[in-house]
Amino acid sequence: MKAYRLTAEGKLSHGALSDMETCALSPGDTLIRVRYAGLNYKDALAGQARAPIATALPVNAGIEAVGEVVESADPAFAPGQVVIAHGMGLGVSRDGGLAEYVRAESEWLVPLPEGLDGWQAAALGVAGFSAALAVDRLEGLGLTPGAGPVAVTGATGGVGGHAVAMLAGLGHEVVAVTSKPEAEDNLRALGASEVIAPPAASERMLDKGRWAGTVDTVGGAPLVWLLRSAAPGAALAAIGNAGGNRLETSVIPFILRGVTLTGINANAPPALRRRIWHRMADDLRPADPARFARTIPPEEIDTAMALLVEGRNTGRVIADFGATPA
Ligand SMILES: NC(=O)c1ccc[n+]([C@@H]2O[C@H](COP(=O)([O-])OP(=O)(O)OC[C@H]3O[C@@H](n4cnc5c(N)ncnc54)[C@H](OP(=O)(O)O)[C@@H]3O)[C@@H](O)[C@H]2O)c1
Repeated sequence: MKAYRLTAEGKLSHGALSDMETCALSPGDTLIRVRYAGLNYKDALAGQARAPIATALPVNAGIEAVGEVVESADPAFAPGQVVIAHGMGLGVSRDGGLAEYVRAESEWLVPLPEGLDGWQAAALGVAGFSAALAVDRLEGLGLTPGAGPVAVTGATGGVGGHAVAMLAGLGHEVVAVTSKPEAEDNLRALGASEVIAPPAASERMLDKGRWAGTVDTVGGAPLVWLLRSAAPGAALAAIGNAGGNRLETSVIPFILRGVTLTGINANAPPALRRRIWHRMADDLRPADPARFARTIPPEEIDTAMALLVEGRNTGRVIADFGATPA
C-alpha cells in the first residue's frame, strides 16, 4: 500500500510517499480503505520538519481520513460503510490517514451523517469540525445572531474559511480577518460581510469593544488584538497557533469587560464528535461544503504541505487515495 510516511529528522520528522505492507499498520479494531485525507497545518508541520508533532516514528502522517470500512471487530460497522476518522492519535502516535489504508478504534469513528457525502465530509474534515466545535462552544457561552459582529482570523485557512461559512449561515455578521487581500471576493462569497487585514501590534490594553464573538486560528498578536477589541460579555474561541504560540496580553479585557476566552481541541470525545458532525450535516452545513476544497494526488502532498507551513495556501487540500468512491 501507498503511504505518506514520516521518518525521524533529528528531533523532528520528514515525510515521503512510501510503500508498506498493510499488515504493518498500527493496530486498531477497524480497517478502513481511505479515499480522502485532508491535509492540516499540523500534518504539514510534521511532514516538513517544522515541529515535533509525531510521538512515534516512523509513522504514517495524517490526522484525518474518510473512507470505507473493510473489516471491523465492531458489528456496528459493516464492510463498505463510509466513516470519518480523525484525532485519536492518527498521524501522531499511530499510523494516520495519509495512506491507502488506516486502522482505527471503532469507538472513535463517526458514521457518515446523512446530508453529507464522503467528499463533502473530507472537505469539512478536522478543519470544519474545529470550526463547528468553536461555533457550538460560543453559542454555549451566549453568542446569538444579532449580538454583534463575529471576527474570524486566518480566514483563508481551512478552519477559518469553514468558520466564516458556518457563522454566516447561522445569520451572524462575520468579519473575515486575512493577510491575503486578494481573497476578499472568495471570503465574501463564503458569507463575510467585511474583510479586513490583521492590525499592527499595539501596547494598548483596550480598544473600542467591537466583537460579540471571535474564532481565532492564528494565536499570537491577532488573538491579543481580538481580546482588547472584544465587546463586553464577548466569547472568544482560541483554536490555532499558525502565527505563534505565545499570548502576551493583560487581564483588563477579562476584568473590565467580562470576556471569556475558551480553548478548542478537535480531539473531542466520541459522543461530542458525533453530535458536532450531525450539526455539520444539518444547521452548520455550509451551502457547498466543498466550495474551496481541491484534491491532489498523493504525489503532491509535499508541495501542498510547503504552502501550508508558509501560510500561502488557500482553502482545504484533500489527498485522494483513489479507492472506490466514498
Ligand atoms: N485546536 C485544534 O484542535 C485544532 C484543530 C485544527 C486546526 N488547528 C490549528 O488551527 C490553525 C489553523 O489550521 P488550518 O487547518 O486552518 O491551517 P491553514 O489552512 O494552514 O490556515 C492557516 C491560516 O492562518 C493564517 N496565518 C496567519 N499567520 C500565519 C503564519 N505565520 N503561517 C501560516 N498561516 C498563517 C493564514 O490565513 P490568512 O492569510 O487568511 O490570514 C493561513 O491561511 C493551525 O494552527 C492548526 O494547527 C487546531
